[in-house]
Amino acid sequence: MSSSLNASEIESATKAALQAISATPDLDSLKQVKIDFIGEKSALALANRALGTLSPEEKSTFGKIIGAARSEVNAAFEKRTLELEAERDARVLLEERVDVTMPARKVLKGGLHPLTILTNEISDLFIGLGYQVADGPELESEWLNFDALNIPADHPARTMQDTFFVEPLAARLVMRTHTSPVQIRTMLKNEPPIYVICPGRTYRADELDATHTPVFSQVEGLVIDRGITMGDLKGTLDYFARAMFGPDVKTRLRPSFFPFTEPSAEVDFFFNGRWVEWGGCGMVNPKVLRACGIDTDEFSGFAFGMGLERTLMVRHGITDMHDIVEGDIRFTQAFGTGF
Ligand code: DAH
Repeated sequence: MSSSLNASEIESATKAALQAISATPDLDSLKQVKIDFIGEKSALALANRALGTLSPEEKSTFGKIIGAARSEVNAAFEKRTLELEAERDARVLLEERVDVTMPARKVLKGGLHPLTILTNEISDLFIGLGYQVADGPELESEWLNFDALNIPADHPARTMQDTFFVEPLAARLVMRTHTSPVQIRTMLKNEPPIYVICPGRTYRADELDATHTPVFSQVEGLVIDRGITMGDLKGTLDYFARAMFGPDVKTRLRPSFFPFTEPSAEVDFFFNGRWVEWGGCGMVNPKVLRACGIDTDEFSGFAFGMGLERTLMVRHGITDMHDIVEGDIRFTQAFGTGF
């Protein structure tokens, strides 16, 4: 704009500014409107700057006109800013509304497998009786799994059908077929008195079906002390059974044979109207004690071993082994974990 300022041009620049301001739809476009109509290069700012070139008289006349125009535009701008801010706040309140009555989304925490829960429960029970919890490797030497337990080389349990032999065969390693080798490990490492249980995973070449699984679990118990009798064994098994199946459960011992116990028995319990086979047990065979360097004149002991899957299935009415091995959390959740 030249020094010849013109009132009608100022008026139309003012109108244009007011119109642009009132037509601005949101705060973002308002920024551009400010640059275009209020900023240093806007028509009114340029006119204002041109005042300096005018005669004092004109300066006073146009100074008033331009001053009034600029304050009108500024006021309109402030007003529009407040309007648009209020609109934005109202919109944000609506869009970002939080329904505090909405149910919270459940976050699944990890849970323990029922077999682990059972193992912990059994460990706690025996720790309460003064036992220690021992463990041993699942890949075990053939000697500890069989020979040291007085299971001779021609015993059927050793055949390829039952046992997973691990290559190279010359290394004489097997996936342990029971937890009993931990008895030997414990007796070789510790002096009596010995009170241990050993829960753990065991392996046999079985097909997975409703009642079998090639990878299963046992808990082994071993007590070596002075004057230990079959009565101690029976009392311990009764205590164990009551803790597992309720205070009224009955147990019975049936004569049986295991190479590492003499005498040997099967232990059954009476549950829901029927006798259920639980595991094997007996007085530790003196041959086994002697092989572990224990003086059989001074010490005797008992041992037992039972399947954890069987225990879990009977106690909880689980009819299909697949439920235990497949890891479907809908099964696990029924045991109160995994939520
Ligand atoms: N190891 C035996 C098995 O897997 C179970 C067993 C029987 C364990 C008698 C024992 C025992 O400790 O005394 O069939």
